[in-house]
Amino acid sequence: MAHDDEISNKSSNRPFEDVLKVNMTRRGAIKGGLASAAAFFAASNPALAAGVKLSKMDQLVGFEPVPVAQGNGPVPVISADYEYDVLIPWGSPLEPGGPSYDGNPSTRPTAAEQREMIGIGHDGMWYFPIKDEKATRCGWNDDWDEWKDDRDWHDNNGRHGKGNRHGMLCINHEFGRNPHVLGKEQPENLGDVQLSQHAHGVAVVELQKKKGKWTTVASKRSRRIHVNSPVNFSGAAADSDLLKTPAGNAPLGTVNNCANGYTPWGTYLTCEENFNGYFGATNSTNTWSATPAQERYGFSEEGFNYGWERFDARFDLSNPDFVNEENRFGWVVEIDPMDPTQTPVKRTSLGRIKHEGATVTVGKDGRVVCYMGDDQRFDYIYKFVSEDNWRKMLKKGKSPLDHGKLYVARFNDDGTGDWLELTIDNPALAANFADQAEVLVYTRMAADLLGATPMDRPEWISVAPNRDVYCTLTNNSRRSEPNAANPLAPNPDGHIIRWTDSDKHTGKEFKWDIFVFAQDTHGTEQSFSDPDGIWIDPDGRLFVETDGGQKDGLNNQCLVVDTRSENPAAEMKRLFTGVTGDEITGVTVTPDRKTLFINTQHPGNGDPSLTNFPAPTDGVTIPRDCTFVITRKNGGIVGS
Ligand code: FEO
Ligand code: CA
Ligand code: CA
Repeated sequence: MAHDDEISNKSSNRPFEDVLKVNMTRRGAIKGGLASAAAFFAASNPALAAGVKLSKMDQLVGFEPVPVAQGNGPVPVISADYEYDVLIPWGSPLEPGGPSYDGNPSTRPTAAEQREMIGIGHDGMWYFPIKDEKATRCGWNDDWDEWKDDRDWHDNNGRHGKGNRHGMLCINHEFGRNPHVLGKEQPENLGDVQLSQHAHGVAVVELQKKKGKWTTVASKRSRRIHVNSPVNFSGAAADSDLLKTPAGNAPLGTVNNCANGYTPWGTYLTCEENFNGYFGATNSTNTWSATPAQERYGFSEEGFNYGWERFDARFDLSNPDFVNEENRFGWVVEIDPMDPTQTPVKRTSLGRIKHEGATVTVGKDGRVVCYMGDDQRFDYIYKFVSEDNWRKMLKKGKSPLDHGKLYVARFNDDGTGDWLELTIDNPALAANFADQAEVLVYTRMAADLLGATPMDRPEWISVAPNRDVYCTLTNNSRRSEPNAANPLAPNPDGHIIRWTDSDKHTGKEFKWDIFVFAQDTHGTEQSFSDPDGIWIDPDGRLFVETDGGQKDGLNNQCLVVDTRSENPAAEMKRLFTGVTGDEITGVTVTPDRKTLFINTQHPGNGDPSLTNFPAPTDGVTIPRDCTFVITRKNGGIVGS
C-alpha cells in the first residue's frame, strides 16, 4: 500500500544496511556456494527426485515475457502465452443479485450496501477448494497422510477435479482512501465513516467456474468481515488488561488487512498492517499525546486522514473511554473459510506488529512455523514455532498458533543469523515488561531490547521446495550512501533475501544470503523495482509482485523466476503488468495450478483521468480494484 512513511524504530539496533555492506564482499562466495548447493537442491527437490529433468532454467519458466515497452498505460498487459479475465471488482455483489456499484462517479454505495459487496484494496488472498457440496475441506489439507516431506503445500497433481473449479476465495481489502471510496477528502457523518469501514476488511466469497468463466455463486458460506465484525482474542495475551477498554466494549473488527497466510488445517490468516492510520485524536475531552508505545507503533493525531475518530469514538485516541482500543489491532487473524458462523480469532501469541503476512510451514516433528515481516523502515522479521505437532495439538483442542515461541531475527555480518526468543524469561525483557502478554502487545519494543536487525521494510515471505525461506525487502529510502566497491548500494528499489533455517525451521540459527537486488535488473528487459508480494510454487517458481515506481515507464507487475537460478536478475520473466497508478499484489492458485489469481490494488490511485479499469476507458468511471484470473493458453501450469 501507499506506505506509512515514518520511522517508528528509534532504537539503536544496527540497521540492516550496515550488515549488508559488510556482507557485500560475500557475494562472490555466495555464487560459488550456490553452484555447489545444486546437489543439495537436487536431493531435496521433489521434481528432481521424481526423475524430471530440469537441466535448463526455461523448463520451469518458459513463457514469452511482456516486453518493457508494452508494460504501461491504463489497461493490463499479459504474456502472449497467457490470457486473463476480471473477477470481483470493488462493488461487486458478494452473491448474485446483491447490491452493486459499478464506478459511477456521481454516486457511491451506502454503508449498508457496501457491507454486502466486495471491498476495495484487494491484497493478500488464498483459494480454498471445495470438493463436494458439503464443502469438505480439500486440496491443501484433506489428504494429510499424503503430505510429502511435511511441506506447506499439497502436491495435488490434478486431483480434486471439482476443487479446481469450485472454491472459497478469502481476500483482503487492505485500504481505500477517502477520495476513492467516498468521493471526498473527509467523512461528513457516521454513515460516511461506516462506508469507509465496510470497504475495508476481508471478503470470503464462493466462486465457481461455469462454462469456462469464474463467477460468484449463491452461497451459504460467503461473508464479509470488516472493522465492525465481532472478533475473539486467543493466545498468551488474550486476557490481558491491555486489551480491555474502560468502556468495556466487546472486541470488534480487523483493518488494513495486508498479506496473508493459510494453515495446514484449512484456515485463512489475514494480517493487520498499518492499523495505526485509522486512529486519530479529536482532543474534544482530553488533550492527547502519544505514549512511548503509541509512538513506536506510529499513532498520531491525524492518522492517515480517514477521519473515523470524528464520528466513531472507538478510533479517537483522546477519548478516555476507549483507552487500549488501539492495542486490539496489529494481530494475525484466523478465519474459517468454510464456516460463516465462525468468529474470527486474533492469535496474540504471534505478536503485535505491522503484520505484512503470516507464512505457515510445517517444520521438524510436525510443528508449525509461521514467518512474519513487520513492514516499516528499520523494523524486523519474526517467526513463531508451535510447541508441538500441529495434528496432536488440534486433537487436544489447542490451536497450534496459541502455544509456542516467538522469535525475532538478528542477521550477523558473517552470513549467519540468530532467532532471539521474545520471552519474559529473558531478564532483559523481565526488567521492562510485566508479563508475556505485555511482551506480545508491545512486540516491537521487546524486539528492540533484544538487538534484532532493523530491515529494509520486510514484506512477503515464502518457503521454497528445498526449505529455503525468501523475504522481500521492498525498499528503504533512508539507506545510506552508495558503496563504490559494491553496485548494490544504495538500495531505493529493494531486494529479496533468503535464509536456510536450522532444524527444519524450528532451530535458533540460520544462514542467509541475498537472492536478487532489484537494481541489478534496471536497464534490462527484466527490469523491476520494489518487490512486495511473493509466492513460491511446489516446483520452485518464485512469483514476484511489485509495489512502487518501476523504471522505464513500466506499470507495477508480476514476474516469475526459478529459485534455482544463479542469476535471477537476468532470468526473471514478466508475466503481467497492471494499470497506471496501481500495485500488483495477492497470489493464489487452484490445486492443479492451472488457474492463477492476482490483484490490482488502487488502480490509478482512484483517479479516473489515469485509468477507468476495469470499465472501458471513458475518462470518468472510477477505477476499481479487482482480481485477475490468469490461465496459460495451452492449459499448462501457471508460471511455466
Ligand atoms: Fe500492505 Fe507492506 O504492504
Ligand atoms: Ca505489501
Ligand atoms: Ca508495499
